[in-house]
Amino acid sequence: MLRTIDSLGDLKGKRVLVRSDFNVPLKDGEITDDGRIRAALPTLKKLIEAGAKVIIMAHLGRPKGQVNPDFSLAPVAKRLGELIDAPVTLAKDTVGESAREESARLKDGEILLLENVRFDPRETSKDDSEREEMASQLAELADAFVSDGFGVVHRKQTSVYDIARKLPSASGLLVLKEIESLSKVTEDPERPYAVVLGGSKVSDKLGVIANLLSKANILLIGGGMAFTFLKAKGYEVGKSLLEEDQLDTVKRYIEQAAEKGVDLVLPVDVVAAPEFDKDAEPTVVAADAIPADQMGLDIGPKSQELYAEKIQSAKTVAWNGPMGVFEFPNFAGGTRAVAHALSTSDVFSVVGGGDSAAAVRQLGFDEDTFSHISTGGGASLELLEGKTLPGIAVLED
Ligand code: 3PG
Repeated sequence: MLRTIDSLGDLKGKRVLVRSDFNVPLKDGEITDDGRIRAALPTLKKLIEAGAKVIIMAHLGRPKGQVNPDFSLAPVAKRLGELIDAPVTLAKDTVGESAREESARLKDGEILLLENVRFDPRETSKDDSEREEMASQLAELADAFVSDGFGVVHRKQTSVYDIARKLPSASGLLVLKEIESLSKVTEDPERPYAVVLGGSKVSDKLGVIANLLSKANILLIGGGMAFTFLKAKGYEVGKSLLEEDQLDTVKRYIEQAAEKGVDLVLPVDVVAAPEFDKDAEPTVVAADAIPADQMGLDIGPKSQELYAEKIQSAKTVAWNGPMGVFEFPNFAGGTRAVAHALSTSDVFSVVGGGDSAAAVRQLGFDEDTFSHISTGGGASLELLEGKTLPGIAVLED
């Protein structure tokens, strides 16, 4: 059982450290998708209403332990302030003088955001003692810890894992909601259970495919990774993305799916183009007839129909990874078709992975038409893989 905020008792006047996942996409210093900040609001509001002094820890990108203004949380502090309609102070450091002074100055119900935790090399250190040293310094700032950065709970890092062992700790509302929804698909899904997997690399999804071959009834493969499957079936894939070194593994998966009775579905047609370009000329070709000078950039219209039918035949669907290059309108059809099928059918649907969640929003779908859109990329994938996540285990009684 995950410990909840209520287990921390009366928080009035208490300093509460919160780990949030504010790793949002930025373009020219502007946040292009604030979904993760919005998702953090319920916990922050609950703590403010309880009269806590709220100190938030978060990361942005991978600054590799160096202070780098390009990875400053300043845009996040601004956006959070607007969304929560209250001032958000940004400390100049994470556990230094500024963090100590600002946290000591906080009044009940006020919010302080510490600067990017990954500016400190100890945050992501593989050396337990380095992480613990940083955790002790963070613990001096607060009386309790709330873990609400679902997107990072698969990381054994100071602000996720070690700090939870230094202070009375509990899971926030977002982490609870994510775990509750994802466990409906990972533990005892209502069947038929279909999983739609996309994204560019098969090598990123090997663990999840291996696990799903004994869990899912239907496995729909799209995105760049589909071409390694098509090649493993003996088709030529032209200039499409291909991971030669994964061919043997993928062949084994195809055999195992047949043995276990898993309906492994590959594209029957693809939208191909001569190059990876927004304006490249799209052509629909059969999956076994991709010309040598073309690359597949999306699943084709027949595949879209087939995938939609399979999705509609299921009771539970998990979706991770886009079906094509959805950022280019000519190659967004496959991703749109999957999102449409999920949002219009009566299935329990969980969308995971930063890219698929962003695709759903960018393509204009109403988020409420999906049962759950996860804020986690790697974290939701690791749950689908059946792994124990360090940032969750540490919050369990
Ligand atoms: C994410 O974007 O998936 C999370 O914020 C984790 O980021 P990381 O992969 O850099 O640890």
